[in-house]
Amino acid sequence: MAKYKLRQFAELETFPNVYHHLQTQKEVENFAMRGLWLKDNFKNNHPLVLELGCGKGEYTTAMAMAFKDKNFIGVDLKGNRLWTGAKIALAQNLHNAAFLRTRIENIVTAFAPNEVDEIWITFPDPQPQEKRIKKRLTSLPFLKRYQQILKPGGVVHLKTDSSLLYEFTMELLNENSFEILLHTNNLYAELPGFLGPHHDLLFSTKTHYEKKFSAMGFSINYIRFKIN
Ligand SMILES: C[S@@+](CC[C@H](N)C(=O)[O-])C[C@H]1O[C@@H](n2cnc3c(N)ncnc32)[C@H](O)[C@@H]1O
Repeated sequence: MAKYKLRQFAELETFPNVYHHLQTQKEVENFAMRGLWLKDNFKNNHPLVLELGCGKGEYTTAMAMAFKDKNFIGVDLKGNRLWTGAKIALAQNLHNAAFLRTRIENIVTAFAPNEVDEIWITFPDPQPQEKRIKKRLTSLPFLKRYQQILKPGGVVHLKTDSSLLYEFTMELLNENSFEILLHTNNLYAELPGFLGPHHDLLFSTKTHYEKKFSAMGFSINYIRFKIN
């Protein structure tokens, strides 16, 4: 591993706003923070919002700055990407932001039933190959996991450059009679009012992958839905 990455990983271990949930199966299953995020980390009763596959955590940090009355956790497997968001959150004193290094497959062992109010899925890998459909972060096995940790009425947001993932998710939501609150296959062509004043961040916050794919001419798709 490159020296720079090794330094990042060593530093990540010392960050007070980063939790690791990637050890043995037994340790994963007995994760100390499950059910206790508000009490032990945030020390308040504010709603808890997750950004899944957060990469550098652009939404986690932008939302934490904009909404001081909510708590945010960026979730990703890759430590060097989390490092960027965690470093920004520390520098900006964002006490309402934390990061969790885990596999999203194990999310139900990191959060208790009804612990989460809202989920953002930002530019996930569309996993285009047929044999990898179950790896898509909006496939039914993943939605079932989110159902377990989300409060009734909890909202899920998907933002993606992939029309394949957008179509796939729309079809799946319709097939399972999940409630679609908003959807567009060209976010920036819609009037901002369409998405409501609270979601200006949808337009102003562009993640690393969004910038990359927008520059290549991809339109941005967005779905807001409920699964509980
Ligand atoms: C395409 S990147 C998007 C990153 C960021 N949201 C953005 O828009 O720039 C997908 C991210 O999801 C993470 N990821 C993919 N599958 C995952 C899984 N099963 N568990 C945890 N993280 C995962 C990857 O490590 C990667 O950082």
